[in-house]
Amino acid sequence: PVLVVDFGAQYAQLIARRVREADVYSEVVPHTMPVAEILARRPLAIILSGGPSSVYEPGAPRLDPALLEAGVPVLGLCYGFQSMAAALDGTVAPTGVREYGATRLEAVDAASQLLADQDVEQNGWRSHGDSVTAAPEGFQVVATSAGSPVAAFEHPEKRLYGVQWHPEVGHSDRGQEVLENFLYRGAGIDPTWTTGNVIEEQVERIREQVGEGTAICALSGGVDSAVAAALVQRAIGDRLTCVYVNHGLMRQDESAQIEKAFGESTGGAKLVVVDAEDQFLQALAGVTDPEQKRKIIGREFIRTFERAQAEILRERGLVEDEAGGGTHTTSEDATAFLVQGTLYPDVVESGGGEGAANIKSHHNVGGLPEDLSFELVEPLRTLFKDEVRAVGSELGLPDEIVWRQPFPGPGLGIRIIGEVTRERLDVLRRADAIARAELTAAGLDREIWQCPVVLLADVRSVGVQGDGRTYGHPIVLRPVTSDDAMTADWAKVPYEVLGRISTRITNEVPEINRVVLDVTSKPPGTIEWE
Ligand code: XMP
Repeated sequence: PVLVVDFGAQYAQLIARRVREADVYSEVVPHTMPVAEILARRPLAIILSGGPSSVYEPGAPRLDPALLEAGVPVLGLCYGFQSMAAALDGTVAPTGVREYGATRLEAVDAASQLLADQDVEQNGWRSHGDSVTAAPEGFQVVATSAGSPVAAFEHPEKRLYGVQWHPEVGHSDRGQEVLENFLYRGAGIDPTWTTGNVIEEQVERIREQVGEGTAICALSGGVDSAVAAALVQRAIGDRLTCVYVNHGLMRQDESAQIEKAFGESTGGAKLVVVDAEDQFLQALAGVTDPEQKRKIIGREFIRTFERAQAEILRERGLVEDEAGGGTHTTSEDATAFLVQGTLYPDVVESGGGEGAANIKSHHNVGGLPEDLSFELVEPLRTLFKDEVRAVGSELGLPDEIVWRQPFPGPGLGIRIIGEVTRERLDVLRRADAIARAELTAAGLDREIWQCPVVLLADVRSVGVQGDGRTYGHPIVLRPVTSDDAMTADWAKVPYEVLGRISTRITNEVPEINRVVLDVTSKPPGTIEWE
């Protein structure tokens, strides 16, 4: 892989995505990873990300010069560029000005490998307060700008490169070309990482992992689990059984739609539907803490799968009931594999990546019980959402699955602020159905990443509905735009559409007498309220 060393930038994942867009596989590692460990992963190249610190600040993350002496091509971006300069005895100094946004590059060296075929004048997007004032010995300065006497440098023999700006950010002119020049020319990497290859590679890995065993897949109806199932189906055929658990936390008519779409989506894999509404609602009774809800829902999911799996194995004659009520395995093939559609951002956000803070226990990662008796198969663990969609299309899944907006595993359970009850779920479902119908009618489905509708079940306010005073609940609309759910902005849904949603909900759902709009970006607010 190409490893992106994360110096605490919000851009590290973005860099990895851009590298993958250049058809080269890339992963993010923390700057605290020792050089030996980084090299042990045999990176084809290394990219040092930007970061919020100043290189000479006490406690600023340091670049171990050994990383630059291993013969692996390195590209430093912004802070990464400055830390390269500092590690190699160049000079980094505060410029006194913090530059944000676009800066024009002035002189670009036509002979540069990194900036080959780039115009002399172009905008590079940047945010920094320090500048490299002298390049390390042996390096050529290949670009300058008003704020930076050394805006880019390179040492083609040592295959070390750096730029002061952020070529990974969408608003950098031709930034992708800078990355590609580094990858293809500087590091000599062939762009061979394509969707087709991902499928082949994953199918092979799944075959290796599962062997002659059987697997069970938790189908949520979302694109992730459907693509994961389709990959496993391709690898092991009918030894895969998909299980759809109706936990009673789904939206209106959703379960029926999923059952219907399933037939088309996973090439004939077997589907078992388990109705577990009572079980989930009982387990959630009296619980209001978001993390506890997530853990309970995750736990009940697994328990339900375990029961379904035992059933499936029994049907296949791989286990027999014992006199005492337990079961025993009759074949070595009874290893139970559980397929999950865990994505790369889930892994990073649940702290399962490397050193990232735990923000929420996504039920498909952090919420798993410790006594889990399955071995996990997670063929999407290294992929971003857009890549999963590409894999899904390539596998022939229908658009209605591939382009389905994300819906969290814990479902409406984390969209009721307060205790989850059947009555509250019913209220939320009716309001949510109206919001979704109106957004779809307005043609906003692709523009909006998703629009959680949240019931503030413990909040009441006074209203007038029909003939009299009401004391009802508010509903929150949370429409957001996003590329990958790591960051998001509140969506500027037209007022007319918001107005229609509000009027319809307060008319058609008597328990709701107020509709409010969430205008918070992520960060600081997460997309879901819990
Ligand atoms: P947050 O609320 O963390 O959500 O900004 C980011 C994205 O993830 C979805 N989400 C989940 N998906 N299991 C899931 O499968 C979960 O536990 C979970 N929690 C949040 C959320 O809808 C958004 O798209």
